Amino acid sequence: MELRHKPLGGLHQPPGHCSGGHLDQPRLHKYAAAIWFLGQRRRVYDRLIALSGARKGDTVLDVGCGTGYLTQRAAHAVGPRGRVVGVDPAAPAIAYARSVSPPNCDFHVAGGEAIPEPDASFDVVVSSLAIHHIPPQERPVALGEMYRVLGPGGRLLIADFRPPRNRAVNRLIGALSGPAMQHNPIDQLAGLVTDAGFEVSGSGDRWPWLRYIQAQRSSGASGISQR
Ligand SMILES: C[S@@+](CC[C@H](N)C(=O)[O-])C[C@H]1O[C@@H](n2cnc3c(N)ncnc32)[C@H](O)[C@@H]1O
Repeated sequence: MELRHKPLGGLHQPPGHCSGGHLDQPRLHKYAAAIWFLGQRRRVYDRLIALSGARKGDTVLDVGCGTGYLTQRAAHAVGPRGRVVGVDPAAPAIAYARSVSPPNCDFHVAGGEAIPEPDASFDVVVSSLAIHHIPPQERPVALGEMYRVLGPGGRLLIADFRPPRNRAVNRLIGALSGPAMQHNPIDQLAGLVTDAGFEVSGSGDRWPWLRYIQAQRSSGASGISQR
């Protein structure tokens, strides 16, 4: 089945490439995400934040933050003494995220390939459903940036789309969203993380069709936050 206009395809252009586009319609994305997660998005994202190891008072970076949903869940976890920064190249998504996020959140219009933050300035980096939007040749650069901005011992949690193993469901995903999701090379993610210098500490699958990787920047000096 091949639909001419793919309902979830606006984010995943250009067609034929296994990378995606930018989130230019934040309100539409909000409703699409609510449907995609069957109303369970908060529970799923809170679990991702728990897996990231973010604690009260931490500084957290959310790469490819879109409308800032994961950013807000991270802000909840780190509390008012913590700080969360979201980066995304889509200006409309960042404007929306700013308008709905608590005061301990800050945002930049920027891609993961060039994060406008100093070296070693975060305790935790998180990213959800964004890596497959970064052009394949830029993914190592983005992982390198995540490594650069994490302090020694800093923690990384990346969750991205895992194409369904069921062939019929996989083809349906392709028809609805295009090849970036249908053929997302999720099995390469751990290698990308390792190549950037991280030590992978865990991985797993989460409903709905998410694969996460937990990793750490090797520790040397003390962490960022004063605990
Ligand atoms: C499916 S949305 C996920 C948004 C958010 N993380 C979430 O879980 O709701 C993918 C996001 O990746 C962003 N994106 C596209 N290219 C990017 C890049 N080079 N670096 C970082 N994010 C990018 C898009 O603008 C979009 O907001």
